[in-house]
Amino acid sequence: MIHVRGRSIETLYSAQEIAGAVRRLAGEIAASGPGDLLLVGILKGAFVFTADLLRALHEAGLSPEVEFMSLSSYGAGTEGGEVRILRDVEQSVAGRHVILVDDILESGRTLKFARELMLERGAARSQIAVLLDKAMRRKTEIEADYVGFSCPDHFVVGYGMDVGHAFRELPFVGRVVE
Ligand code: HPA
Ligand code: MG
Repeated sequence: MIHVRGRSIETLYSAQEIAGAVRRLAGEIAASGPGDLLLVGILKGAFVFTADLLRALHEAGLSPEVEFMSLSSYGAGTEGGEVRILRDVEQSVAGRHVILVDDILESGRTLKFARELMLERGAARSQIAVLLDKAMRRKTEIEADYVGFSCPDHFVVGYGMDVGHAFRELPFVGRVVE
């Protein structure tokens, strides 16, 4: 338990455990016979994970490029809810091996949208890597190809993830216990 900004935060995944998971995921990606690799980090929550995974892929002998997207989801939980692109990638994904990188897979609505978008744009492969999977929250049929941890149903912060813009700087993933 640590105390930051007057809140108590209980560690769920330490910086060391996260580093181990990131190395394992990079190894899994390297073993999958990757093509022309393009990581697409989903802002903001995935910026730390994307940076670490990018460097772990280098350590695994690969030469990925990186892009970022920002998506917003309206009417979450309702059928026909809409996903909007707030910021798009800057280069073509045609013929490339795209891996969408996100902090948490919950309902799956935005990642399903992004995966299908990359395929519509001609990506050769459109895969998903997430640090945390909250499977109990799923609202659509989708699974990630690479998962760091199966996460219990807590609201988590740190390692890029926030509550009200706070706690992104923490090097571990924790939950706010008040
Ligand atoms: N933490 C931070 N941001 C989030 C979460 C969470 O658990 N779920 C959806 N956005
Ligand atoms: Mg957030």
